Amino acid sequence: MLLLNCKYMRHVNYFNKNVLLNLRSYELIHFMNSKAKRYTVSAAFPYANGPVHIGHLAGVYIPADIFVRYLRSKKKEVVFICGSDEHGVPITLRAKEEGINPKEAVDKYHFMIKESFEKFGISFDHYSRTSSSTHYRTASDFFKKLYQERVFIEEVSQQYYDEKASEFLSDRYISGTCPSCQNPNAYGDQCEKCGSTLSPKELIKPRSALSGNRPVLKDTRHWYLPLDRYEDFLKQWILMDHKTDWKINVYGQAKSWLDEGLKPRAVTRDLKWGIPVPVKGAEGKVLYVWFDAPIGYISSTIEWAESQGKNWESYWKNKDTSLIHFIGKDNIVFHCIIFPVMLKAHGDYILPKNIPANEFLNLENKKISTSRNWAVWLHEYLEDFPGQEDVLRYVLTANMPENKDNNFTWKDFQGHNNSELVGILGNFINRISVLTEKYFSKKVPIPKIFTENDCQKLKELQRFPERIGNLIEAYRFREALSEFMKIARMGNKYLADQAPWKTHDQDPERTSTVIYISLQIAGMLTHLSEPLLPKTSEKLMKMLRISPISWDNLQDIELLKPGHLLGKTDLLFEKIETPTINKQRKKLIKDSVDSEKNHPAQEK
Ligand code: 2FM
Ligand code: ZN
Repeated sequence: MLLLNCKYMRHVNYFNKNVLLNLRSYELIHFMNSKAKRYTVSAAFPYANGPVHIGHLAGVYIPADIFVRYLRSKKKEVVFICGSDEHGVPITLRAKEEGINPKEAVDKYHFMIKESFEKFGISFDHYSRTSSSTHYRTASDFFKKLYQERVFIEEVSQQYYDEKASEFLSDRYISGTCPSCQNPNAYGDQCEKCGSTLSPKELIKPRSALSGNRPVLKDTRHWYLPLDRYEDFLKQWILMDHKTDWKINVYGQAKSWLDEGLKPRAVTRDLKWGIPVPVKGAEGKVLYVWFDAPIGYISSTIEWAESQGKNWESYWKNKDTSLIHFIGKDNIVFHCIIFPVMLKAHGDYILPKNIPANEFLNLENKKISTSRNWAVWLHEYLEDFPGQEDVLRYVLTANMPENKDNNFTWKDFQGHNNSELVGILGNFINRISVLTEKYFSKKVPIPKIFTENDCQKLKELQRFPERIGNLIEAYRFREALSEFMKIARMGNKYLADQAPWKTHDQDPERTSTVIYISLQIAGMLTHLSEPLLPKTSEKLMKMLRISPISWDNLQDIELLKPGHLLGKTDLLFEKIETPTINKQRKKLIKDSVDSEKNHPAQEK
C-alpha cells in the first residue's frame, strides 16, 4: 500500500482546485446566478384562508428557504420576503363558511401561518400581509401610475350577477361545468381538474357560490391590462432570454400562453373585500387580488428595508439585483406573464431573473385539499412531532415535486426517517461521537500517516460544497439532498472499512488518523446541512462546538483541528414506530370524513 507521509491534513494539497468539471446545464445556471450582486427572493404569499400544509412547504417554502440559506452562507446580499395574501374570493368564501367576517378570517390565519413558518425554520427576513398600510399605499400607487400612463383599457361589459345576493360573481364566486373536461365543479377562473384557465362566461351551467342560483348577465365597468400589447416584449424576454435558464415546466407553460395569444385581462373586480380602486368612477370596486398580491413582494421589501435602515429600491430597481420568485405551478401565468407586464408597464422595476415553480404534492395518492381536509397541517405536525421539523423537511425535499407531481405517504415518511436519517446520518454521527469520546476523551486526535485511500476520501469530501452548491443554484434540491446523504454514507463506509476499534490496541496511530478523517466528514455534514436541515445543523454545531463558516471556504480548510474538544453528544433522530404513523393515517381519514359530514353540499 502506498503511504503518503502527510502529517497534518492542512499541509496536504489534496484538492486540486483547478479540476475542470464537465459543463452541465446546472453549472451554467450557477455561473449565471453568481454574477448577481444581490438577491431579492420571494416566496408566494399564501392565502390567509386556512393553515399551511405539506404541499405548501414542498412546493414553495422549503425550496426557497434552502436557496436563501445557501446564498446567505455564501455571504451574498439577499432579502427573503413573503407575507399573507389577504384579499380575493378565497378569503371571503372561507369567512362565509366559518360564519365570521373576512377581517376576522385573515387575522386568524395570518398569525397561524406566520407562526408555523417560524417554528418550522423558514427564514424569511420579513413576513408581511397584504392588509398592511404600506401595501395599500404601494398597490394603489402602482395602479395609479399605470392609469395615469394610460396603460389600461377601460371597458363596460356584461358579467354574471347574483340577483339574490346582489353581487357580481367573479373568479371563485361562480362555478359550473368545465368546457374542456366536463368537470362539474370548475371555478370561474380555473378548472382544477384539467388545469384550464377559464372565464366565468365559458362555464357551462353556471351557478353562484353565494346562493347556488343561476346568475344573470349585467353591465359593469372595469380596467384591463392589455397583455396582447406586450406580446413582443414577452416573446423576447421569455422565448429568447430565458429559454435555457428557466425550469422546463415553467418555460413550457409560459410558452404555451404566448403561443395561444394573449388577451387583455381585467385587474379590477366588483367585490366588497379588497383594495379600493384608487380612481374616480370606480367606487365600490376593488383591485383584482392577482394585481395586488405580487405587488406585496415590493411592499414587504419596503417594510423590511425601513426596519433595517436600508434602501428598498436597490432590491427592486438595480440591474445587478437578481429577482427570484419561488411559486407553485398554479401561479406560473401570474408570475411569468401578468406581473412582468405590470413591472414593464410601470417602467421603474427590474424583471424577475428566474421563477422556479414546483409541481404539486399529493398526499397518500390523493390531491391535497383544504376544503376536504385532506392535508397534513403544519401546526398539527409541529404538535405531534415536536423537535422533528427536519424529518418532515428531509422527506419533503427528498420527494419534492420538482419536475412532476409527487406523493407523500406516512409509510414513506417513516421509511426515510428510519433508514436514512436514523440509519445513515444519525448513525454515522453517533458512531463517530462515541468513538472520539471513548478513545480520545472527546478531543480531535492528531492524524498520522494518510493512506492513498485516506487522501482520496478527503479529496472526495472537498468536492461536495461546490457540487451541492451548483445543484442548489440550479434549483435541483432533491439531488442536492441526495449528494449530501452521500457524505454520510461515505462516512459510514469509511468507518466500517477502516474499523478503528480493531486497530486501537495494536496501531493506535491508525485509529487517530481514521477518527480524524471521520471527524472532518462529520464537520462537512454539519456545515452543508445548514440550508437543507437547519435544525440538525444547529444541533451538530453544538455537538462539534463549531461555528458556521462561508460555503466558499469549506473546501479549503481543516474543519476540525487536532486538539479541538467536542461538545455534548445529542440524539439527532429517533426511530418512528409503526403505531405512530398508523395514528396519523387514521387521523387523516377521520378528519376528511368529518369535513364531508359537516359540509356535505360544499363545492370541492
Ligand atoms: O396561490 C396562492 O396561494 C396565491 N395566494 C399566491 C399569491 S403569490 C403573490 F402574488 F403574492
Ligand atoms: Zn376542466
